[in-house]
Amino acid sequence: MSHHIPTMRTARELREALESSRQARQSIALVPTMGALHEGHLSLIRQARERCDVVVVSIFVNPSQFDRGADLERYPRQEVHDVELAAQAGADLVFAPSVEEVYPAGFATQVQVLGITDRLEGASRGPEHFRGVATVVAKLLNIVQPEVAFFGQKDAQQVLVIRRLVADLNLPVSIAVGPTVREADGLALSSRNAQLGPQERERALALYAGLRAAAEVAMDGELAADALLSAAHSTMVLFEVEPEYLSLVDPDSLEELSRLDGPALLAVAAHVGSVRLIDNVILDPSNLAAAAPLPLPSPRKVTACSV
Ligand code: PAJ
Repeated sequence: MSHHIPTMRTARELREALESSRQARQSIALVPTMGALHEGHLSLIRQARERCDVVVVSIFVNPSQFDRGADLERYPRQEVHDVELAAQAGADLVFAPSVEEVYPAGFATQVQVLGITDRLEGASRGPEHFRGVATVVAKLLNIVQPEVAFFGQKDAQQVLVIRRLVADLNLPVSIAVGPTVREADGLALSSRNAQLGPQERERALALYAGLRAAAEVAMDGELAADALLSAAHSTMVLFEVEPEYLSLVDPDSLEELSRLDGPALLAVAAHVGSVRLIDNVILDPSNLAAAAPLPLPSPRKVTACSV
């Protein structure tokens, strides 16, 4: 069953649409997205539906968080379909502003979270990426003024950046985090997966396989970071993928760990062809099975090139 939900284009329209709900003291949820909605996004919308009276989904491909123009240009856009999917998952309203609405002439303010943005994604993609994310999320939170905003653990560092932003600027919102949704073989859902060719799709499993291999080694009792990272790395190489980074870090500070003494974030980024993918798992020595929900993938036969 599908039903039609309204799409608001301006901050003002959105505020007006939410006015009666706010007056009636209904709780408002925001699920920020860049569209090309998949099960990962939809699971967040469903969680919002369960917890709040009114669910707003924002769809905005935020130019300022893209470090490469080409990546921005080929980012998938399918708004009509997205609105339909959001409605089916329980959204009440879509906020899909234009670039000019979000960044009108004269726009000059940036929100920058320091420290944790120097590492992992910040180190790979440059300081603009999380500056773009923090700035647009601060704007979306101010426009929608939700009680709760929902984010995915798939982007673990983004969650930390947003929690920091909300705490440091006293934004009156709570942040809810949903688990990473994966394909049956373990590949984390991502809007960028659609850009993978068939062979790249197989190689893309390298990220989950690497994380999963490290969890396996830890379950065997080996807790040294070097051993976990080298197991992950050698597994990825079997899929013919070289990580851009592969790090075992403190899940709050993102500082590198030498040993798995408590819950740690194992995070990876890699290019598969021209598609850049990320993934992560929390390795908790008191519950390692949680990091290994799916079987350890093995690479499909590697075609030998005959000379
Ligand atoms: P986007 O990549 O569209 O993701 C929107 C939300 O969906 C994010 O919170 C992301 O972590 C979550 N998500 C993506 N893939 C997921 C998966 N496989 N499982 C669970 N959750 C998943 O992240 C952004 O957009 C932008 O940076 C945004 C926050 C909207 C700011 O522009």
